[in-house]
Amino acid sequence: MASPRPLWQPLRHCQRSLLAQAQQPLQARFLSSTTPAPASLAAASSSSSNANPNTSNTSNTSNAQQQQQPPPPKPKKPLTPAQQAFLSSALRVNQAGELAATLIYTAQTPPLVAREPHLRPLMRHMYEQEAGHLSTFNTLIAKHRVRPTALYPLWSVMATGLGWTTAVMGREAAMACTEAVETEIGGHYNSQIRALLEMVGEWEAEGYEVGGEFRELIGTLRRIRDEELEHLDHAVEHDAKKAEPHWLLTGVIRAGCRGAIWVSERV
Ligand SMILES: [Fe+2]
Ligand SMILES: [Fe+2]
Repeated sequence: MASPRPLWQPLRHCQRSLLAQAQQPLQARFLSSTTPAPASLAAASSSSSNANPNTSNTSNTSNAQQQQQPPPPKPKKPLTPAQQAFLSSALRVNQAGELAATLIYTAQTPPLVAREPHLRPLMRHMYEQEAGHLSTFNTLIAKHRVRPTALYPLWSVMATGLGWTTAVMGREAAMACTEAVETEIGGHYNSQIRALLEMVGEWEAEGYEVGGEFRELIGTLRRIRDEELEHLDHAVEHDAKKAEPHWLLTGVIRAGCRGAIWVSERV
């Protein structure tokens, strides 16, 4: 039987580290990566790179060279305060949600696997993916100096309690828990991806460059969203729908997830 104990120590260390980060002023670094260079500098750079003493007296050659020059880089648009706030709350709630997911699987695994050992590889697989998601968002909130949720201890206790309780109720209830959580989380990631794609679309329509870091974030969210939906499929394949009463169990857990998301985006 796997013990949850080894997981706690790194998480506590991680929490202390993240709370220490929160002492610094909140500064979404997407801003610095999207701040356009001053026009005067861009013009000077362009002029300098075009200068060629060997061809400056030949207008035809010069024109041909100018035609071969790549177009000047598009400017990057700084994030508005609203966009910065959106990104900060998105990273905060995602990090809190992934912490909760790792704790749910950690609490579920011992009682579940004790009765149904064949589920061990599946539980380990889902836990390892959640741990990877948590690591990703730990890195992102530290990099962009986003404050983690102040309700870390509360979510930790609730996620552990939810995982243990549903596992003790049986495989169907444990899988119904995963079904409910992943349904909400999948929709949550989808709404974030939509919002970010809208921002990208607006920037492109206005002629601005979209930074590679921003596109990378969207790709990361898509990958994690797909893995959450894979967990949802695993849960349904392992009789989540047979939990009794399925509608009540999933309804309560989904409502709890929505509440936790709403609070973690703000606190
Ligand atoms: Fe996850
Ligand atoms: Fe998941």
